[in-house]
Amino acid sequence: MMELSLTVNGRPFAVHVDPATTLVEVLRDELGLTGTKIGCDRGACSACTVWLDGEVVASCMTFALDARGKQITTIEGLAKDEQLHPVQQAFVDHDALQCGFCTPGMVMSCAHLVERNPACTLDDVRGAVSGHLCRCGAYPNIFKATLAAAAAMRQRKSGGGT
Ligand code: FES
Ligand code: FES
Repeated sequence: MMELSLTVNGRPFAVHVDPATTLVEVLRDELGLTGTKIGCDRGACSACTVWLDGEVVASCMTFALDARGKQITTIEGLAKDEQLHPVQQAFVDHDALQCGFCTPGMVMSCAHLVERNPACTLDDVRGAVSGHLCRCGAYPNIFKATLAAAAAMRQRKSGGGT
């Protein structure tokens, strides 16, 4: 076991973990951040997607040790000042989920896309979620929601929104 300091959603945490512990195990089991889901636990479904220094990663394929010194963002850290991220709000508005198990990972990837490219196209959105498996077929509404969120981001950047 070794001591590990991590920064999650802007807050510092110290945990004692086995060096083979994955990031998602620390998030869920040590820190209680259960918004990040485990689907396959082998890098095939993207349910466990989080941001590491602003880039999307599969947290089931990332050793917690490799997150040392980096900014980790989970679904719990996406809302700011009690206000949902535009992608979260758009998922609600467009009913972009059914069972919801894949939703946190989808939201993290779609939010990553619109943050970087508010002018994203449908193809961009398809690409962003191409590694995410949703078995209940919520994709059409996920696409609509993400494009709506991108439009909201554009409006916000142009000073036309809240
Ligand atoms: S749980 Fe990590 S990719 Fe499926
Ligand atoms: S909403 Fe259930 S698997 Fe996608």
